[in-house]
Amino acid sequence: MISDNIALLDERRLIDPIDINTYEKQVGAPFIDSLTGLPNHGFFSMTLDRETKRSERYGSHISVGLINIDSFRLLNKSKGSVEGDRIIRKVAECIQNSVRQVDLAARLYGDFFAVIFTESALENAVNAAERIRSNVEKMQNQMVTISIGLSGYPRHTKKSSSLLQEAYAALIKAKTRGKNCISYTNETTSEVDRIAPNVLIVDDIPKNLKLLEALLHPLRYHVFKADSGEAALDIMGKVDMDLVLLDVMMPVMDGFEVCRRIKNDPQLRMVPIILVTALEDSESKIRGIEAGADDFISKPPNKAELLARTRSLIKLKRINSNLADIENVLFSLAKTVEAKDAYTHGHIERVSNLSMVLGRKLGLNEKELEALKYGGILHDIGKIAVPTAILNKPGRLNEEEWEVMKSHSLVGYQIGLPLEKNLGPALDVIRYHHEKMDGSGYPDNLKGEDIPIVARIVAVTDIYDAMITDRPYRKGMSQKEACDNLLEEAENGKLDREIVQLLLEHLKYNY
Ligand SMILES: [Fe+2]
Repeated sequence: MISDNIALLDERRLIDPIDINTYEKQVGAPFIDSLTGLPNHGFFSMTLDRETKRSERYGSHISVGLINIDSFRLLNKSKGSVEGDRIIRKVAECIQNSVRQVDLAARLYGDFFAVIFTESALENAVNAAERIRSNVEKMQNQMVTISIGLSGYPRHTKKSSSLLQEAYAALIKAKTRGKNCISYTNETTSEVDRIAPNVLIVDDIPKNLKLLEALLHPLRYHVFKADSGEAALDIMGKVDMDLVLLDVMMPVMDGFEVCRRIKNDPQLRMVPIILVTALEDSESKIRGIEAGADDFISKPPNKAELLARTRSLIKLKRINSNLADIENVLFSLAKTVEAKDAYTHGHIERVSNLSMVLGRKLGLNEKELEALKYGGILHDIGKIAVPTAILNKPGRLNEEEWEVMKSHSLVGYQIGLPLEKNLGPALDVIRYHHEKMDGSGYPDNLKGEDIPIVARIVAVTDIYDAMITDRPYRKGMSQKEACDNLLEEAENGKLDREIVQLLLEHLKYNY
C-alpha cells in the first residue's frame, strides 16, 4: 500500500526534466539556475500556481518554505564571491538532499531558496525544514546558518494565493528572532536552539584569558581566545564574532591598534569591542574612543558589570545584523513580485531612481530621498497576494478582480509595518502610491497635500514607467504619448501638477 502511494507521488513528481524542457520551449526562457542546477524562479512561480490550484480543487495540503542564508552579504564580502558561490551551491545541495523527490526545491535569487512541499501539511513541512536546517549546520567548516519561513494551505493559510506572502511574513519573523530560526504561519517561532554568540577574548597573559573565560561561562557563549593582536585579527577573518573583549597593553600590537584595524574594516566594523584596561587615566579612554571602542571595562573585571555590558552589546549587534537581513528579505519579496508581474522587468529600480531625481529637484531632505529610494523598490510588495492570473490578465479586470488588485497597497503596508522604525516614510509610499489628488484614489481616498509628497512622486513615476513599458498584450507608449497622458491626468486633478511638470522638464533635458 505504501509503495502504491509512493508510486503515485512519484508519478506526480514536480521536477521532471522533460517537463522543464517543454516549459522552457513554451515560455522561451531558461528554467534552470546555472549556478546550482536547481529550477529557477520562473519555474517555481509557475509550479506554485499550478499546485495551489490543484490543492484548491482537491482540498489537498500544500506547504511552502522560503529559505535564506543568514548574513550572506557579509559572508560574500568577507570571503569573496567565489567562496560565496560555493556556499550557495552547498546550501542548494543540502536543501535538495533534505526534501522528497515529489517536492520542488528552487533557487529564487542570490541567497534565497524556496521549496514547495506537495501534499504536505505544515507539520510535515516543519519537520523537513528542521532537516534542512540541521544539514546546513552540519556542512563542514562553513559556519553557515539559514532561516526558514513556512506557510501551509488549507489549515493555516486560508487562501492559497497567500501562501507565498505568508511564507515571507514567517521568514521576516524568523529573521527578527535571530539566526538559524524556523518560523511558520500562525505559530510562535519553533523551539530551535539559537546559535550561541561568538565572543573573542584577547590578552597576552594566559591567566587573564582564563579569568575572563571563567567569568563568561554562565552566559554559555562560544568563547575564542587570542594571545596577541595578530592572532585576534586572524581569528576575526575566519569567524563571525558578536563581541571582542580586548586587552590594551599587549606587546607588538596593542589593543588600540587592534581596535582601529577592526573598526576600519568594513566587514568587521559592526562587531562591538570592549577594551579591558587597567588604565584609568582619561587620555587612554580618549585614545580608545578614537580607535572606535564601544565600551570600557577596568581590570580586574567586575563580574556583574562585565556580564551586563557583554549582554547588551551583543543584543545590539544582533539587532543591527538582523535588520540588514530583514531588509534583504523585503528586497527579495519586491523582486518576486516583479517576476510575477510580466511587464515589470527593471520597473522597481527605474521607479526608485526616477523618484529620487524628482525628489532632489524638489529639494526633499535625506530622509525623504531615502523613502523614495526604498519606497520605489518596495511600493508593490503587496502584489505578492494578487494571483498571477489577475496581475497579467490581458483584458479589463471585473469588479471582484479589481478589488483584489487594489488590496495590494494595504497588504504591502501590513507586510512592512513591523519594520516601521526602519522604513519610515517609505511605508507611506507603499500605502498611498495609488491615491489621487482629487480624492478618487485608494485605499484611504486622501486628497491633495494630505497625500505624503513621497507617495505623490512615486504615483507619477510608477504610472510613467508602466506606460512606456511593453506588456504582453500591448506595446509600450512613446515617451511623448506618455507625457501627454500624464499632463492630462494632472489637468483632470488626478496627479500632482508640479511633479508632472518636473518630470517633463527632466525628460526634455534628456532628449
Ligand atoms: Fe501599485
